[in-house]
Amino acid sequence: MIRILFICLGNICRSPMAEIIFRDMVEKNGLSDEFIIASSATSSENVWNGIGAEVYPPAKRILARHGLSAEGKRAVQIKKSDYEKYDLFVCMDKSNVRNTQRIFHGDNEDKIRMLMDYTDRPADVSDPWYTGDFDKAYRDIYDGCEGLLKAILKQENQA
Ligand code: 4NP
Repeated sequence: MIRILFICLGNICRSPMAEIIFRDMVEKNGLSDEFIIASSATSSENVWNGIGAEVYPPAKRILARHGLSAEGKRAVQIKKSDYEKYDLFVCMDKSNVRNTQRIFHGDNEDKIRMLMDYTDRPADVSDPWYTGDFDKAYRDIYDGCEGLLKAILKQENQA
């Protein structure tokens, strides 16, 4: 079982897209039983009274265009106790990495990663909150998820 938490600032655009895209890829590969997949925010911005915000409508629309539903996903914020609950924390950008390290008081088991490091163009995921370009964000996230799944399967085969 591999437990993966995707992380961004608000958990309403990039990390829910990654969660939903990666879950679909895993399902299509017949591997659903092997994974626990979730996403979370570093900020409390979109979490009120314990009920998080829904996925941002433009992110929902781009997912829907690719046949994917964001129904039911609500924003949540990471907490220190999550560190033991997941094997990998996959961040969308460098500030997410810094904030995640701060919340966990470090990363002594080396679990924090950047999504685009699993592609041939390591960088921050293009942030649609600022660019308005949800297609570009989708492409980055899709490629990152594809690389992440390949890397995990390669590691499993070598184990
Ligand atoms: P996300 O996008 O981190 O991809 O969910 C953002 C959502 C909200 C804000 C920034 C980015 N915000 O500043 O409220």
